[in-house]
Amino acid sequence: MDNITDEIKSRLDIIEIIQEYLPQLKQAGTNWKTFCPFHNEKTPSFTVSREKQIWHCFGCSEGGDIFSFIMKIEGIEFVDALRILAKKSNVILKKQDPQLTNQRAKLLEICQLSTDFYHQILIKSPQGQIAREYLKKRKIFSSIAKNFQLGFATDSWENLTNFLLSKKFKENEIIESGIAIKSVNLSAKNKNKIYDRFRNRLMFPIYDVHGNVIGFSGRILEDKKNEAKYINTPQTLIYNKSQILYGLDKAKQEIKKENLAVLVEGNMDVISSHQAGIKNVIACSGTALTLEQIKLLKRYSSNLALSFDLDSAGQKATKRGIDIAWQQELNIKIIKLPKGKDPDECIKKDANIWQKAIKDSQSIMEYYFDSVFLNLPRTGYDLSIENKKNATKILLPIISKLTNKIEQEHWLQKLGEFLNIDEQILRDSLIKENTNFNSKSMSKEKNNLSTNKQIPLIDEQNLLLEEKIIGMIFKFHKNLKEIILKFPINILQNKKLLELAKNFIKDYIKNEEKFNEDQWIKSISKEMANYFNTLIFAAEKDFLNFDSSIEYEIQKNINILKKNILDQKLKIIEEKFKKAEKEKDCEKINFLEKKFKEIIEQLNEINYL
Ligand code: UTP
Ligand code: MN
Repeated sequence: MDNITDEIKSRLDIIEIIQEYLPQLKQAGTNWKTFCPFHNEKTPSFTVSREKQIWHCFGCSEGGDIFSFIMKIEGIEFVDALRILAKKSNVILKKQDPQLTNQRAKLLEICQLSTDFYHQILIKSPQGQIAREYLKKRKIFSSIAKNFQLGFATDSWENLTNFLLSKKFKENEIIESGIAIKSVNLSAKNKNKIYDRFRNRLMFPIYDVHGNVIGFSGRILEDKKNEAKYINTPQTLIYNKSQILYGLDKAKQEIKKENLAVLVEGNMDVISSHQAGIKNVIACSGTALTLEQIKLLKRYSSNLALSFDLDSAGQKATKRGIDIAWQQELNIKIIKLPKGKDPDECIKKDANIWQKAIKDSQSIMEYYFDSVFLNLPRTGYDLSIENKKNATKILLPIISKLTNKIEQEHWLQKLGEFLNIDEQILRDSLIKENTNFNSKSMSKEKNNLSTNKQIPLIDEQNLLLEEKIIGMIFKFHKNLKEIILKFPINILQNKKLLELAKNFIKDYIKNEEKFNEDQWIKSISKEMANYFNTLIFAAEKDFLNFDSSIEYEIQKNINILKKNILDQKLKIIEEKFKKAEKEKDCEKINFLEKKFKEIIEQLNEINYL
């Protein structure tokens, strides 16, 4: 094994690899230096030696070789670091390596084999003809289909499953890769049979940032009303949608070079844009941006241009994504396209439109201003008082979130001009807004007795999880009786969502088989009904039809949420503990120790599915 790691090391440049994660790494004498990613510091003490092929931080004393760096920064095990670096260095790992026979490696292998399988059908087999025609119709060249390893899943229930079984993979491995589904309610004869998840679909392999296939998205060839346009791999051991950006493996170098990442909604948009030669483009595949995705992006650039349909039903989720990106100090711009068109459609018409739209992208504040002021009617020169109040209500909280004071001042002045109001009045309101904001988070902190600044961010993530779980329950309640009956409602922290879910579950349990969704909706407020519909809409993006993986997905998300909540509690206890230790408050220390153990036990009880 030593030989392999040495071989890999000799083929790679440690500087280049580390720079991929830490673009600020700069030469200082014979060594290279930057801020340590593993602890907070004000002067750079993270040092890398090209000659010795090692890294060391003189601040926190961490250090090692390129393998330990990848393990630490990615939070992965040696085997996975080995895979990543083997790939980068073109060293071929033999399958028999016992270290590689772990479950993750199996799933990666299944995904890679499936990619090849689908791709061969698309390019060669007579059965792939229909998909080849589809690509032609959508003006996708075969060179780009090859580059993205597009494929075709034929209209068969067992084609791929049988192929994988013939390669000696076990049924449970095939199911765990997300490629196949175990049938639940077929006839007794077929019970427990497994079948292909993707049938009669154009297949897009989804790659992680290192270029490993970890899942798939399958598009129907002909849009049908009652079938999902896309079906995606559910969450698996290797695929977590919220940590992936489609196309990043192919776009990352270009993103670095252009110092700009262009984020679009669809896979097709990414492919078209690459085909047109604009390659710093990635997709979030129809979901809201997450903290993990933003952190991943930040490795390559801190400038992000969004090409989203901001008027769509997903708008709230988008705004939340923007807020997270802001907290991570990304510069966000908005790309405006002709109404109703997505990037793919623009490019197919004329790639220059797309190129120009990226160039002309607007700063997000300009965008917010436009979206408020372009829609307000003016009486004569001036806005009505009501409209002024409305505009302030929308824009002031946004301005208050700006971390850069000069920028904040700039937009405050602009708002004053637009409203024809003395800027000082706005500034006073802004201060109020800020103290409001602070006292809100202060009181939250008081409740939690914590000073951890991360907490609001974790709350954002938890809210996304909560909404996802409840969205799936709302959408598939007919099939989820068991889950609903024992749903641990107190894991919901968001008041509005809690109220809605409680109300729903109460009615559902009361009426049992006779539960009528339409009637129930009539019994709630319009605002709540809207929220209900938004949640269903979000769930439909992932799953249009019920299948057995949905229960699994819900349970898994419940567990993640439970874990997050317990983690938060632990942090709070830790802080209190430190304080009690400082104050030598033995009684408190004992009490906190007990609490700490309790929570650790609860954490251990959570099953990770
Ligand atoms: P779009 O509906 O905009 O699709 O969804 P698209 O990418 O433009 O595809 P074409 O041009 O119609 O072929 C945007 C993204 O949302 C996800 C997919 O990742 C898609 O690329 N999506 C959409 C789903 O996951 N499921 C769906 O049913 C629809
Ligand atoms: Mn499209």
